[in-house]
Amino acid sequence: MASVTSQDSSSIPAAGSTSGSESETAKPWAIVTGGSRGLGFETAKGLAAQGYRLLLVAKDPERLRRATEELNAYVKTLNETNNSNKIQANNSNDNSTKDPHRNLDVEDQIAHSWPIDFEATTPEALAGVQESARKILETYQSQWGLPKVVVIAHGVMSAKMSKTLRTDANEWRRVMSINLDSVFALVNVFGAAMSEARDGRIIIYSACLGRMSGPGNAGGLAPYRISKAGVNALVRNLAHETGHGARGFLIDAVCPNHSRTDMGGADAPRSAEEGATCAVWLATRPFTAGQDQTGLLWEDNEVIPW
Ligand SMILES: NC(=O)c1ccc[n+]([C@@H]2O[C@H](COP(=O)([O-])OP(=O)(O)OC[C@H]3O[C@@H](n4cnc5c(N)ncnc54)[C@H](OP(=O)(O)O)[C@@H]3O)[C@@H](O)[C@H]2O)c1
Repeated sequence: MASVTSQDSSSIPAAGSTSGSESETAKPWAIVTGGSRGLGFETAKGLAAQGYRLLLVAKDPERLRRATEELNAYVKTLNETNNSNKIQANNSNDNSTKDPHRNLDVEDQIAHSWPIDFEATTPEALAGVQESARKILETYQSQWGLPKVVVIAHGVMSAKMSKTLRTDANEWRRVMSINLDSVFALVNVFGAAMSEARDGRIIIYSACLGRMSGPGNAGGLAPYRISKAGVNALVRNLAHETGHGARGFLIDAVCPNHSRTDMGGADAPRSAEEGATCAVWLATRPFTAGQDQTGLLWEDNEVIPW
């Protein structure tokens, strides 16, 4: 229920320190909520492979710690593979004068973590989530600049049998606070900073179960479906308020399809990595205002009806 935060900012590099040939602020960074596992973790991995630094946010500090370590180990392996390819390419071009280490990207510790509990069932707790988001910006902005990307991938499923007429108030509030209210709180803080800077993208994991067409209309799992319908409405509304990308700020919702995660279950048809592909694409796709679309619900890199 609390939204108290702590963080491991002790490992933030000092301002002005560099890695490779890039300045600290030149490298883009992304915040990924739900980054401790499942689709959030795979999205973070996809962004890390494209050179992003990551701040993983979730509730459980121990799971976050393990996810951060795993991500850093993954980047280290990627760097080693890249460097060995570069060294081979240098050697095959001959070059006794070339320094084989000059292209090494030595920064392997690209992932940091920040625990927040998004179950904010009171206005005070929701304000606490906003405060945590502001604290993240305060802590990282001077070193890394503003995040280029925020992926909101945390979420909970509602209890089985949670038809509208059988859902109790506690269950309704639990699911709404995590799946919708905290999304508002994060977008309200991060989106404001990005929109002001005219640069940034927010991608929110919605679900096809929240659509007003197709599978969203089937009834059952009421708090979950309705929270995701709310996320869809938030995305559409904010896109209108921010000029549909004309002012450099993009906001989109993504349906990952049924993916193998703790929520999706072991029998889901897609791997978590496959489920995360569309969010990674939305975070990194080329975008030209007036030509490309934002403020929509996407699945497999295509727009789908709300
Ligand atoms: N998997 C699917 O088939 C599927 C389909 C459609 C949509 N989605 C959506 O995709 C998103 C990711 O789903 P997933 O399958 O990856 O779920 P998951 O494996 O169950 O992971 C849930 C994530 O949300 C975090 N979280 C849950 N409650 C939290 C709280 N109170 N405070 C902070 N963090 C909290 C968890 O953090 P901890 O580790 O700290 O608990 C974890 O990182 C969700 O929004 C989900 O609705 C999933």
